[in-house]
Amino acid sequence: MGSPLTVASSISEIRSIWRDCRANGKTIGIVPTMGALHEGHLSLMRAARPECDLLVTTLFVNPTQFAPGEDFEKYPRPLERDLDLCRAEAVDVVFTPTPDVMYPAGHQTHVTVEQLSRPWEGAHRPSHFRGVTTVVLKLLNIVQPDIAFFGQKDFQQQLLIRQMCRDLNVPTRIQTCATVREPDGLALSSRNAYLSSEERKQAAKLASALQLGLNQLADGKTHLPGIREQMKQHLEAETEFQTDYITIVDAQTLEEPDSPTDQMVAIGAASLGTTRLIDNLLVPPLTLETLNSI
Ligand code: PAJ
Repeated sequence: MGSPLTVASSISEIRSIWRDCRANGKTIGIVPTMGALHEGHLSLMRAARPECDLLVTTLFVNPTQFAPGEDFEKYPRPLERDLDLCRAEAVDVVFTPTPDVMYPAGHQTHVTVEQLSRPWEGAHRPSHFRGVTTVVLKLLNIVQPDIAFFGQKDFQQQLLIRQMCRDLNVPTRIQTCATVREPDGLALSSRNAYLSSEERKQAAKLASALQLGLNQLADGKTHLPGIREQMKQHLEAETEFQTDYITIVDAQTLEEPDSPTDQMVAIGAASLGTTRLIDNLLVPPLTLETLNSI
C-alpha cells in the first residue's frame, strides 16, 4: 500500500504540500482533468506515475471553457467514483476546487494564445480555448509541477498549452500521451455517455474517416483537397453525423497544406444528435515522440 490519497479543495492546502515536496527535493507531476474519469484519463496517470515523486490530479469542471448553452450543468460529476479511480492509480493528491476558489469575485485576467486558438475548435467554440488556457495556467501556477500530462485526443488543446508555456516561460514540461480507444476505434470521452445506442453504433465512423485519410496518403495519393473530401463523404455516408470539419493540417501551425509534408495530423469534429465528438490521428512519419521533443 502506498500513502493515502489527499483530497485538497483549497489553494493553501496545495501550497503547503508543494512546500513540503520542494523542501525534500521531490518532483511533481500533474494530470489536469474535468473528472468523470475513464481509461483515457487513467492512462495519463499511469504515464505520469513513474515520472514523478508526487502525482497530483485535478478534478475541476471549468465553467469558463463552456459557452452558454453547452453542457456545463449536465457534465457528469461522479466525485466518489473518481476518487476511487485515483486511489487505484496511486495518485497522491487530488485537487478539487470549486468555481469560487478558481474564479473568486473580481477575477478579470485571461490568457489567449492568439493564432492557434482561432481555427477548428476555436472557430466552432469561440471562447473555449481562452477558458482552457486560463484554467491550465492557473493550475500550473497553483501546483507548480515539473511535468504535466495531456492527451493527444485534444490535439489543438495540447498544442495551445505548449505554445502558452513557451510564450509565458512556464517551467513545466508538457508530455502528450496517446489516445485510448474503444475496440471499434471510438476515442474514449466523458461525452460518449450522452450517445444513444444507435448513435454509439455510428460514432466509430469519425475515427475510421480519419484513418481513411491516412490510408490514402499511405497509398501514395498526394491531392490533399480530394482526400479531405473523401474523408467527409465517408464520415457522413450512412450516419447522422453533422460535420464541423474533417481535414488534414500542419501539426504545428494547424494550417491546411496543399501537398503532403512530414508533420501532418488528420483532425475532425462532428455531432451525432446533440453530442459533439472530436478526434485526430497523426499522419506518419509524425509520431508522439517527435511532438514531445519539440
Ligand atoms: P478532460 O476532457 O477531462 O480531459 C483531461 C485530459 O484527458 C486531457 O488532457 C485530455 O486530452 C485527456 N483525454 C481525454 N480523452 C482521452 C483519451 N481517450 N485518451 C487519452 N487521453 C484522453 O481536457 C480537459 O479535460 C480540460 O480542457 C482541461 C485540460 C482539464 C482544462 O479544464
